[in-house]
Amino acid sequence: MNGRLQNKVAIVTGAGQGIGAAIARAYADAGAKVVVAELRAETGNGVAAEIGGSFIQTDVTKQADVERCVAHTLERFGRIDVLVNNAGANVFHRPHEMPRSEWARCMALDLEACWAMAEAVLPTMRQKATGAIVNIASSHSFKIIPHTFPYPVAKHGLIGMTRALGIEYAADGIRVNAIAPAYIDTEIAQAYWAGFPDPAAERLKAEKLHPPGRIGRPEEVAMTAVFLASDEAPFINAETIIIDGGRSALFHD
Ligand SMILES: NC(=O)c1ccc[n+]([C@@H]2O[C@H](COP(=O)([O-])OP(=O)(O)OC[C@H]3O[C@@H](n4cnc5c(N)ncnc54)[C@H](O)[C@@H]3O)[C@@H](O)[C@H]2O)c1
Repeated sequence: MNGRLQNKVAIVTGAGQGIGAAIARAYADAGAKVVVAELRAETGNGVAAEIGGSFIQTDVTKQADVERCVAHTLERFGRIDVLVNNAGANVFHRPHEMPRSEWARCMALDLEACWAMAEAVLPTMRQKATGAIVNIASSHSFKIIPHTFPYPVAKHGLIGMTRALGIEYAADGIRVNAIAPAYIDTEIAQAYWAGFPDPAAERLKAEKLHPPGRIGRPEEVAMTAVFLASDEAPFINAETIIIDGGRSALFHD
């Protein structure tokens, strides 16, 4: 335990696997009390048990679940210092082939749920005049890969929301920041590659896109999530930290 989040209570959505699970583990290591707000009971319970946290089954797209999650956290721990909006899913289509219901599914999970969770924790954060919200955005928040619509629309929106809420509540002692990872080695990425005829070749292609010649690890996103939630980042607000090994700075010829 390194104490960087000592005495802080954090909700991490979608913490049953992947980046969210890595953040939950890193937060617990840093001394935080962690609420694992996850749709799937099996993985959510597993992570919570492993880190000594508290699992609450939560579908972040359902308002009643959002409210139950926040009420559970306050009942159990009495305060909420950190919210990590991590739950998300790839919704990838060619725009003109996309059923309209897919637009709604993507916006509900990848954008609106982040606001619903933020809205639900704001009253207690404002009352205590302290809080940190960390939104997990993406490289898709800045650049477009064809045939991935409307995921980048939602992830661009999440940056806008990060800035808007960061400005709106700065004077209340609340910081709102985002992390924009490139390819990270999680189930979501593996499922994406699995959709290609040669998944191994697709993975290799993704690795080569990044200057270090590899993709990122969930733990590398978690390190930044600890930093942004901690008292080491008191004047960082409405900002997005890109974790991509330098990919976005690379000029492709
Ligand atoms: N993996 C990457 O390469 C990558 C890159 C950039 C951004 N991201 C973003 O990081 C976040 C996490 O991605 P990941 O790769 O760990 O994904 P993942 O699919 O491995 O994990 C997502 C988790 O969220 C949970 N979840 C899904 N819908 C939910 C809902 N309605 N309510 C509560 N929980 C729900 C899932 O059960 C799962 O445990 C997402 O927002 C994703 O868009 C991922």
